[in-house]
Amino acid sequence: MVLPDVSWDSLTSLVWPVVLVGVKEGEKHNLMTAAWVSQVSAKPALVMVSIAPGRYTHDILLKSGEFVLTVLSAGQGEACDICGSRSGRDTDKVAASGLKTLPAAVVGVPLIEGASANLECRLVDHFTAGDHTVFVGEVVAGTATEESPLVIYRRRKGTVTA
Ligand SMILES: Cc1cc2nc3c(=O)[nH]c(=O)nc-3n(C[C@H](O)[C@H](O)[C@H](O)COP(=O)(O)O)c2cc1C
Repeated sequence: MVLPDVSWDSLTSLVWPVVLVGVKEGEKHNLMTAAWVSQVSAKPALVMVSIAPGRYTHDILLKSGEFVLTVLSAGQGEACDICGSRSGRDTDKVAASGLKTLPAAVVGVPLIEGASANLECRLVDHFTAGDHTVFVGEVVAGTATEESPLVIYRRRKGTVTA
């Protein structure tokens, strides 16, 4: 059987949320941009994020067992680019992005000011899916603001309003 080509335009027609995955290793706080993120259960509230094994964030999340998903607001596109193009192995991305942090309610990883939402998560499962690892987290606390979210559709940044 001949399979049709999977065009990048077809895949990127799935509208991407633009999220920062926050993790902490000791005192070091790292932020990584992720678009492959979704809610997967209502009760309990579970979310998933797909992270390639080579990312600095990958092993920190596995070891620490907790993370924050920050849904970036429409005005935070520069943070998306910085946290999605440099590695925490050699860059302090919190300083480089100029983002301000806030203490979390439950987990040890800080929240990000000015975002559309911050979800505090505890890792409950993970498994390999192709060339990524799917991390499943239980949302143990979450706050939302009136800021419109940053989204990406076919590689272009935009926003959505309710
Ligand atoms: C818009 C955008 C979305 C991204 N989505 C993901 C993703 O869902 N999963 C992933 O593993 N990497 C994703 N990346 C790539 C990582 O953010 C990038 O490799 C980053 O530098 C890794 O940081 P770290 O090494 O500090 O973990 C994305 C990058 C951009 C710009």
